This record gives sequence, C-alpha cells and structure tokens, in this order.
Amino acid sequence: TIVILDFGSQYTQLIARRIREFNVFSVVLPCTAPLEQVKALNPKGAILSGGPCSVYDADAPNADEGVLAMGVPVLGICYGLQFIVHHLGGKVVGAAAREYGHAEVTVVAETPLFKGLPGSLDVWMSHGDEAETLPVGFQLTAKTSNAVAGIADEARRIWAVQFHPEVAHTRQGMELLKNFCLDICGAEQNWTPEHFIQSTVERVRAQVGTGHAICGLSGGVDSSVAAVLVARAIGDRLTCIFVNNGVLRKDEFLKVQTTMREQLGLNVVAVDSSQRFLEKLAGVTDPERKRKVIGNEFIAVFDDEAKKIWESSAAGAETEKSAGHEVAWLVQGTLYPDVIESSSVHGPSHTIKSHHNVGGLPADMKLKLIEPLRDLFKDEVRRIGRDLGMPEEIIERQPFPGPGLAVRILGEVTAERVAMLQEADQIVVDEIKKAGLYRKVWQSFAVLLPVKSVGVMGDQRTYANTCAVRAVESEDGMTADWAPLPYEVLRTISSRIVSEVRGINRVVYDITSKPPGTIEWE
Ligand code: XMP
Repeated sequence: TIVILDFGSQYTQLIARRIREFNVFSVVLPCTAPLEQVKALNPKGAILSGGPCSVYDADAPNADEGVLAMGVPVLGICYGLQFIVHHLGGKVVGAAAREYGHAEVTVVAETPLFKGLPGSLDVWMSHGDEAETLPVGFQLTAKTSNAVAGIADEARRIWAVQFHPEVAHTRQGMELLKNFCLDICGAEQNWTPEHFIQSTVERVRAQVGTGHAICGLSGGVDSSVAAVLVARAIGDRLTCIFVNNGVLRKDEFLKVQTTMREQLGLNVVAVDSSQRFLEKLAGVTDPERKRKVIGNEFIAVFDDEAKKIWESSAAGAETEKSAGHEVAWLVQGTLYPDVIESSSVHGPSHTIKSHHNVGGLPADMKLKLIEPLRDLFKDEVRRIGRDLGMPEEIIERQPFPGPGLAVRILGEVTAERVAMLQEADQIVVDEIKKAGLYRKVWQSFAVLLPVKSVGVMGDQRTYANTCAVRAVESEDGMTADWAPLPYEVLRTISSRIVSEVRGINRVVYDITSKPPGTIEWE
C-alpha cells in the first residue's frame, strides 16, 4: 500500500488513480489522519499531495510530522514539497514569479526518482510559493530557470518535486511515480481485480463473523457489485432489500429481481410499495417536495423491512446473540468520489453522509457499515463487477436518480403519467442501444412535460402531451454537454414515441449543457 496524504489539491484523486493504473494499491487519507492510522496501513511509502494553501497561512492544512520519520520513503508533491521544507528547517517564500501551466525542468542531480528520465522534463506546475533554503541534508535535484523543482535527502529517503507528476501534461509523470512506488518503495504490483475480490471477501467474512447484513439494492452498478462481493463472503446471511417506489422504469421491478436472484444468486426481498409512494406524491408538484416525499417514504419502507429481517434472523440466532454477535451490518455501495466529497482536509465526516438514508433504525440493531467499494472509482467498480462474472447489462448501466422518474415528470406524478413516461423512456433507451450509443453517452432518457400542444394524426386533430429527449456526455455528472445524436436516431425516436405512446404527440430535443442546465429536469 502507498498512503497518500491529502492536503486539499484538486489532483489528489489523480495520484491514487495513476498509481493503481500500474496495479499498486493506494489509499488517500486526509492530511489530518492520526499517525497511528497511517501506520496501521503498514504502508510501503507515503506521498504528500499538493494543496491550495501556503504553508504560512493561518489555516494551512497540517499533518503529523511523524510521517516524515516513519521509516518508509516519502514523496512530496507541490505543497508536499513545501511542507517538507518548512517542517525540516528550510524556508519557503512567496515566489517572485508564480508558475502555472507548462514548464521545463532541468535535472541537476542523479537520483533514483528520475531514473530513466531525460535530463529535461516537460512538466505541469501550479504554485505561488517556492523553497528558498533547503533543510540540512537535502540536495537540489531539479530546477526551472528560476526556482527549485526537485529536492532529495536520500539518507532519510525523502524526495519531493514542485511540479505535478500525476497530471497528464507532465509527460514523464507516470515513469516518475513508478520509480517512486516500485523501485524506491518496493511496492508490489498486486492490485488486480482478483486480489481485490479475494482480500475484500476475506475481510468482510472476518468482520461480520456470524452476524447478518442487509443491503439496499437499486439495480445500479454500485449497490449490485457491493452486494455480490458481500454475498461471496457471507452467503445467505446477506439480505438485499429492493423497493418499488412506483417511479422505476418500465418492467424494472421484475427485471432487477430476476437478474439479482437468478444471475447473481442474491437473497432479495422485493417490496412493492408503489401504491404507498404514489399516494404520498398525489398533488405534489414542487421538485424539492417530491424528493423529500420519496426520500422519507423510502426510509420508512426500508426500516420496516430491515426490522422484520432483523427480528427473524435474531430470533433464529438467540445463541449468537448471547455470544455477543447481535450486530447487524449495512452494506452500502459508497464509492471513493463520495468519500472525498464528504471529507475535507480538516477531517473526514463520511459517516454522516453514509447514514443519511437509514435514519430511524432501531438502536439495538447496532448497525455497522460495510462499504467494500469505498476506495474505488466507478470504472474500477466496473472492472471488479466483470471479474465477478456479473452481466454487462448491470455493469454498463447508466446512472439513474434515486427519486426515479418522479424528477422526469414535471408537474404532478400520477400512475398514468408514470406509465406514459415509462413507454417513451423505453423507446429512447432501445434506440440509443440499437445505434451503439448507450455506452458512449453518460445518460439518455425521456422527460414528460406538463405542456399540451395540437397535432394531427390520421386526419384527426390531437391535443396531447410533449416529451423531451435528453442525452448528455459527461465524465462524472458534475459537468455535461448535450450529445450530438445523429439525426437518424432522433428521427426514429421521435416517430416511434408519437406513434407508439398514447398521450404524446410531440417530441423535442434538449440542447442545454450543464452548467447552466442540470442533467435531470428537476
Ligand atoms: P443533475 O440533475 O444534478 O444530476 O445534473 C447529476 C447526476 O446525478 C443524478 N441525480 C441523482 N442521483 N439521487 C440520485 O441518486 C438524486 O436525487 C439525484 N438527482 C440527480 C443524475 O441522474 C445525474 O447522473
């Protein structure tokens, strides 16, 4: 394991990414993580990330200096370099000329970090401070025309660079990270899907012991992969709860159950609460109200079911209870970006977010979290899913919002409008798949508008609903651009919807990017 201490740089995730690309496992911790926590991971090396602050700022992120003396190699990047210089007795000052963007760096000393690299490096810089005086024991290893670009104290096994090896613009960045992780730290290249699966299964098995776990399934890739992994560890003692909230896509309630049970062998309790949800949604038109109604109702249903499962498993396990095993576990498909979003450099706060959808469970359940995917990125989860033998149909699924079709039905959500949108949405997805575009776009779906317009069909005047088609391209859902779908695909979607879906007589295409729009309409 390589530990990365996060000082708040926007590139920290990328460091982890790059290192895993050559199959070395890395974990990101906030810089405030206690030294004991870092040591407990038994790391082969540590990387100190960049950060937006200056080491002299009153609120500069800080780490336990002990990380510099753990006996494992350390690599400082940008702020990490300044942190090292500052804490080991050198001096950091505001740079005369700030450096942002491309820079050329000259290597001035031989060091294993630059092994195999040319004498002149093409790098990406982003800093306002620079090292002026180096701490005792350090030598200059690289420089730009006016500033320190690399330093090392090989006796203490500390290296640092002012530039960012993790960004693609630093051409030899991968080589540099490999030199550090493989040659200097001696990290093993064993982070493969099989290894991840095996070690996760073993860990979960040890954690849960003879206890029971529950998992809320959405049918999406994250919760499904998490459930399959945990099921490998504890088998039938994992119960998955899948709730029909009345705003799922066409046939989704049945299809997901079939896939989960028959193809993935999961123990699924399917709860059809659509009636209950639709009753609560009656008359609600405000988007935020809709989300709240659905969120609250979900918690209520999930709690009821969890209690039932808990009571029956606990009843059948009195002996376990008396042996102190009365712990219930909750499996969540939390991914690494979720963890990062909810933790700051001033300390992690992820448990608050992780629990947000399970409020109100009985206190005696002593619910503990299992988050087997919390170190992974979405595409890594897909890789694991494939290795677990899960069907492509689940692995390549586009994201679907928790409040489902409710946020795609503008105005009131009724059973009739849900059915209408389900038909239109199915046509959009079908045609996008037929055109081979399903995996190329981030999301593609239909939206039902509260707008009626006049049309003509078979010499008959019509006055019916309007449907918007939305397809966007995106890396992460944070920003997105509307997809330039081929006219032929749009033509087929439009004519099929109007002729096949009763109640819709007009189709429009949404050409708004995010920002300023959002992907969903509500
Ligand atoms: P927006 O509409 O905010 O959506 O651009 C960004 C991404 O998030 C999804 N989304 C949600 N997912 N619960 C979810 O689980 C929600 O309430 C929710 N709202 C939006 C959306 O589908 C897109 O991928």
